[in-house]
Amino acid sequence: MSYQNLLVEKKDRIAVVTINRPDKLNALNSQTITDLKNAFTDLKNDEDVFVIILTGSGEKAFVAGADISELNKLDVVSGKSFAENGQAVFSMIEKLDKPVIAAVNGFALGGGCELALACNIRLASENAKFGQPEVNLGIIPGYGGTQRLARLINTGRAMEYILTGDMIDSSEAFRLGLVNHVYPQTELMEKAVGVAAKIASKGQQAIRLSVKAVNIVDEVSCKEGLDYEASLFSIACGTEDFKEGTKAFLEKRKPDFKNK
Ligand code: COA
Repeated sequence: MSYQNLLVEKKDRIAVVTINRPDKLNALNSQTITDLKNAFTDLKNDEDVFVIILTGSGEKAFVAGADISELNKLDVVSGKSFAENGQAVFSMIEKLDKPVIAAVNGFALGGGCELALACNIRLASENAKFGQPEVNLGIIPGYGGTQRLARLINTGRAMEYILTGDMIDSSEAFRLGLVNHVYPQTELMEKAVGVAAKIASKGQQAIRLSVKAVNIVDEVSCKEGLDYEASLFSIACGTEDFKEGTKAFLEKRKPDFKNK
């Protein structure tokens, strides 16, 4: 499948999705949001894809935000559907149940920061810069930034970044827990593929159930989350991968997971 503003490469169970509008710093126009929706729907259904890496084209930007030339035309009515449409696509990425790794290779501002926040794991290059600069445009984050940033780095810190529009450099992003690791830019994709390959080598039933279990943490009480975990644990106990994984350990050999 081909897309207007995305490149999708699939190799060794890993798909790399690259947002490809480098002359506009990969800003998310409506076509790119549609492309993301279509691409992630395809990847969800593609049984040969285990892990997805999302990155931006060029060396300067992951995504420099929603496309301001489109934002400029919104009104009270279209603004609501604009935000809801983007939120639905980002929530689909977050809840894909296949791990999605953001390889943040430069500016991740506004919708770009929100897109990274919707991924399950965030890795960054040293030149990465995060931020929610929407107040500078007279708007607020609309693709999930007020909710996901506050949950990830705590309310007070998120409030400060959203109210000031200040950028967060990569070392501060690491300190805040906004990214898991920071690498020199030339190493970012190699490292991201390394993490993806490690995840792809496990039994995928357990991987998908793990993503599902962790992903509801912000939506339920601890008790409800524990009940859900026990239900998913029991599903894992019924898989062939579980039989193979435990048997292989006891036989002192590597497991040969069939992902069933
Ligand atoms: N929407 C539309 N176009 C954008 C964009 C966005 N969010 N971010 C960058 N671009 C475009 C610029 O208009 C410029 O296009 P042009 O060459 O046709 O004039 C091109 O990308 C390069 O950007 P430029 O501003 O020249 O690069 P820079 O290195 O001087 O600055 C940024 C980089 C990221 C600091 C700056 O582009 C910026 O502030 N972008 C907007 C960030 C933002 O507010 N995002 C939130 C939107 S909700």
